[in-house]
Amino acid sequence: MTHRTQPASTLAAIPDGPEKLYDLRIKHSRIAEVMNELDTLIYPESQDSILLVCGPTGVGKSTLARHMVDTALQDAASQMEQDAGVIPAVYVEAPSSGERKFSWRLFYQRLLNQLEGELEMPKTEFGIDTVTGRMVKPRGGAANTLGALRTAVERALRARKTRFLVIDEAAHIIRQTSRNDLEIQLDTLKSLANECGTQMVLVGSYDLYQLVSLSGQLARRTHVLHFERYRQDTETDVRAFKMCVQKFQDKLPDLWGGKLMQHAEALHENTLGCIGTLSAVLTRAAKLAHKDGSWSVDALRRALLTEAQRHQILEEVLEGEAAINPSLTRTMTRPRSTAKRSVA
Ligand SMILES: Nc1ncnc2c1ncn2[C@@H]1O[C@H](COP(=O)(O)OP(=O)(O)OP(=O)(O)O)[C@@H](O)[C@H]1O
Ligand SMILES: [Mg+2]
Repeated sequence: MTHRTQPASTLAAIPDGPEKLYDLRIKHSRIAEVMNELDTLIYPESQDSILLVCGPTGVGKSTLARHMVDTALQDAASQMEQDAGVIPAVYVEAPSSGERKFSWRLFYQRLLNQLEGELEMPKTEFGIDTVTGRMVKPRGGAANTLGALRTAVERALRARKTRFLVIDEAAHIIRQTSRNDLEIQLDTLKSLANECGTQMVLVGSYDLYQLVSLSGQLARRTHVLHFERYRQDTETDVRAFKMCVQKFQDKLPDLWGGKLMQHAEALHENTLGCIGTLSAVLTRAAKLAHKDGSWSVDALRRALLTEAQRHQILEEVLEGEAAINPSLTRTMTRPRSTAKRSVA
C-alpha cells in the first residue's frame, strides 16, 4: 500500500479560518484619540452634559461606544466590588420604533433593563405637583406611565452612580422631530443628565450632527467630537491605516500568505479609510479565500465595496465632513499688543 504524501504546503493550506476575524477588535490610533478626548470631558460636575460623537458609517462608532463602556466598567472594578450596586457607565441603542415620533417609553424601558436587569416592575410616579407644591402619587399606580418610567430612570441612574450614558444611533431621537421640538427632545436628555449627574454621550453618523446644527441653540450647548476616517491625503493617517491592515494580516498569516499589505493602498481607497468597513471587506475576503481553498487577489477583489456603494458612502462622508469641520475650527482673536494700546 502506498501512502501518497502531500507536500507540507498543501497540507497546511489555510489552517486559519475566517472566524478568527469575527471577534477581532484591533486597537488603532483614532479610537485612542477619541477615547482620550472623551475621558478628559467626562468628569463629575462637568458642564458638558451632552457630548456628540459623529463620524462616517463603518468608521467603528458602535465599537468605540461599547469599548468605552467596557473600559469604564473595568476601571471601576474595585469600586464595583465594594458596592455591587454601582454601574458607572451604560450603553444603550436609541430605539427606532417605526412610529412617527421617538418612543421615550421604549427608550426608558431599555435603559431600565440595563440599570435594573430584566425585572419588570410597575413604576409608581412620585413627584411634586408644580401648581400645588404637594407630593403626588397617581391612583391605581400599576400602569407604567411615561412620567413613572422617567422617574424610575432618574432614580436608577442616581442609585447606580452612573457617570455616563452612551446612546448609540442617537439620530433616532430627533430624526422625525420638527425643528421646534428639536430643542425639547435634547432638553429632555439634558435635564435627565443634570438631575442625575450623568453625562450623555450621543453617538451617530453625520446626520446626527446635521440635525443638531439645525438649531443654533443646540449647536451652542453641545460639545462635538469628530470620529474621523483615516484620510488618504494625510501622511500620519496613511501610516495608521497601513498598521491596521498589518494587524489584519498578522491575525491570519497563512490565509493571506503575507500578501495583504501589498494591497493596503487599494484597501484604503476602497474603504475610504473606515476601519469597520475594512474589517467587513477583509472578513468577506477571508471567507471567499477559505472557500476557494487558497488566497487570491480575485477573492479580495470580490470582497471590495462596489463602486456604487463606495460612491454613495463617499458622498455622505464629504457632505458630513464639510458640515462638521467648520464647527470644529476654533479661532481666537489675538490680544492687542500693549504697545498699540498705550499709543491709542
Ligand atoms: N477596531 C476594530 N477592529 C476590528 N473590527 C472592527 C473595529 N471597529 C469596527 N469593527 C467592525 O466593523 C463593523 C462596523 O463597525 P461599527 O458597527 O462599530 O461601525 P459604525 O461606525 O457604528 O457603523 P454605522 O454607522 O453603520 O453604525 C463591525 O462588525 C465591527 O465589529
Ligand atoms: Mg453603529
